[in-house]
Amino acid sequence: MLFPLPRWFAHRGGGSLAPENTLAGIRLAARLGYRAVEFDVMLSADGTPVLIHDETLERTTSGVGKVCDTPDAILFALDAGDGERIPRFAEAATLCRELGLLANVEIKPATGHEVLTAEVVARLTADLWRGAEVQPLISSFSLAALEVARDLAPEVRRGVLFEVPPADWLAELRRLQAVSLHCDADLLDDEVLATARAHDIPVLCYTVNTDKQAKMLFARGVSALFTDRLDLFGGETNPYDCLHLVG
Ligand code: G3P
Ligand code: MG
Repeated sequence: MLFPLPRWFAHRGGGSLAPENTLAGIRLAARLGYRAVEFDVMLSADGTPVLIHDETLERTTSGVGKVCDTPDAILFALDAGDGERIPRFAEAATLCRELGLLANVEIKPATGHEVLTAEVVARLTADLWRGAEVQPLISSFSLAALEVARDLAPEVRRGVLFEVPPADWLAELRRLQAVSLHCDADLLDDEVLATARAHDIPVLCYTVNTDKQAKMLFARGVSALFTDRLDLFGGETNPYDCLHLVG
């Protein structure tokens, strides 16, 4: 089946112009012309999947302590920046569907919670996007989480996230029946890129915040980029040609 892969993903749901991993960020990305958004999903102490990057609350919210130790009643009362709340994953999914955005759902489990987080997020992803025209892409640095996603929601496409792809990355990608390779833009090796291209595997790189680096990576054959700089790559200047990939 063919699926569209926009060239640009708004990183952490909105990046620098809005608080990260918030509904305001997702709305802003869509307003600026982005067609895809990446966000991080972790479980609260009540097992509710929410959008947040760090295991702890301090950097991005008015709270303290670990996300996985914080009950919903406290979590949803926090300020996640500019008066925004931490969104429930379900709210972000509904918004992405409304706006026609491709969502890259990064399963971001707190340490030791890989399997449970993946079970909840993978099942919910399949439910929340059932029948949607634009289907999501699940990714994770946790191979254990991707394995769970493969088994519980095989119909939801998966991308494997590595900071630096290991020697056996292709075998891992095949084992996880994943369609894309996601890795650190600064550490991308030509050999990895050549192998991926030879196998028609799209490579997506994070996090690219300069025009110079973006041009270089596209010229090298990278398929899509994650950016915090919605201002830099949004609107007219954004090369919105969409790749159509088999997966
Ligand atoms: O999914 C790409 C990127 O978001 C991975 O890094 O730490 O920003 O979640 P991080
Ligand atoms: Mg992420």
